Amino acid sequence: MDLTKLIASLPSGTFLSDTEDCVRYGSDWTKTPGQAGAVALPRTTEEVAKILRYCFEHSISVIPSGGRTGLAGGAVAVNQELVLSLERMSKMQAVDIHGNTLRVQAGATTQQVHEHCESHGLLWPIDLASRGSCQIGGNLATNAGGVRVIRYGMARKWVVGLQAVTIEGEILELNNDLEKNNTGYDLIQLLIGSEGTLAVITEATLKLTRFPKHSLVMFFPFPDPGAILNLFAEARKGPFEILAFEFFSKICLDAVAKKLNRQSKLGNTAAYYALMEVELTEGSKDAVEEWLGQMLEKEIVMDGMLALSDSEKEQVWGLREGITESIQATAPVKKYDVSVPVRKIGTFLQATEELLKVGSYGFELYLFGHLGDGSPHLNLVKHPETSMEKFGTDAAAFEKVLFPLLKNNGGSISAEHGVGLLKKHWLEYSRTPAELRLFRAIKKSFDPRGLLNPGKVV
Ligand code: MLT
Ligand code: ZN
Repeated sequence: MDLTKLIASLPSGTFLSDTEDCVRYGSDWTKTPGQAGAVALPRTTEEVAKILRYCFEHSISVIPSGGRTGLAGGAVAVNQELVLSLERMSKMQAVDIHGNTLRVQAGATTQQVHEHCESHGLLWPIDLASRGSCQIGGNLATNAGGVRVIRYGMARKWVVGLQAVTIEGEILELNNDLEKNNTGYDLIQLLIGSEGTLAVITEATLKLTRFPKHSLVMFFPFPDPGAILNLFAEARKGPFEILAFEFFSKICLDAVAKKLNRQSKLGNTAAYYALMEVELTEGSKDAVEEWLGQMLEKEIVMDGMLALSDSEKEQVWGLREGITESIQATAPVKKYDVSVPVRKIGTFLQATEELLKVGSYGFELYLFGHLGDGSPHLNLVKHPETSMEKFGTDAAAFEKVLFPLLKNNGGSISAEHGVGLLKKHWLEYSRTPAELRLFRAIKKSFDPRGLLNPGKVV
């Protein structure tokens, strides 16, 4: 790619081309091999527009890039494309206390946004274990989920304005932060979740909500997923608002204990664990304790712990949030971030266990995730004695039975991680031919030359 004229027209230091930088910016948490041809680090929306216009005119492919914490390979530069990183665009305006909104540039991290809002008692409620590294642009481009979806929904619910730049360099100012704007197609919602294949998000006005003042975390051991579901059904009727309802199997807990040296106060002998965080209304702690007593009496739970202080809560959450990192450290992993309607989660998990009994696979299933959202993470971790080749064929064999099971249950092959590069070939299990035809038509109208994040999603 010839960037000579573009480089000359922008401030010095806007581009990087060292091999080390190109590898770093061209790859993501999936460790899929990637390397940028060059890296652009603009400081303003106008610079983004200039870069994209140049790329359009010179047919140069561009990979928009955030914190690169994605798990579907959506930010990987597989063909030495130009990586366009938004990390230098991380300014945040003052919180608008009348609209309860915050205007931010795409490169602000999720954690910076949380910290910025906290002093106002406000929250942008998307929360993920990668909060310190992932960026708002990436959160929106991938319609991030995370651990609070059961209470607040996905990222797309928390945006009232978006600025994005097309491949032809047009700057789109979408919706003007209006709460009400019923004037045709919703382009914001089209761009959210499009994984950088339609336009590059440069700024967003985020919708905020009240910070849940009092919350407490409960942690329970269980013999099987069915027992967790019994608690979940009771919790739906409990005297609180559920903020998170997560679960994980013993093997996940053991991996965290080994890698991060974090122990569970409940020991590690149960087959499964559930973590529930709830929001308390004033004075409802007693009601929660009473409810817990009833759960013990009814033998819905046999044991458990209540975390009240921030450090106790952090201790329990650390067990859940440390899972991804700890599993990655164990052996090669294949990740399946699937979902089914919440009402079907019990039968789906049971059927998955049956699938595993049938084959003799060279991997171990590490099961964890967002039970309350119908969104379990199935992680296949290679056995030490299994060759990489057998691991690949076994995973492919498992997919052949897993995906039809998902389809029959009306589920999705990607609950929250997106499609990116890694799940593109599975899309037909979750989308009809008519939907895929419309996908391609939409892509063409935004990006007629196929230059934006090529090879991803469609
Ligand atoms: C999580 O729920 O921890 C994330 O989605 C990451 C993962 O699936 O590994
Ligand atoms: Zn998740």
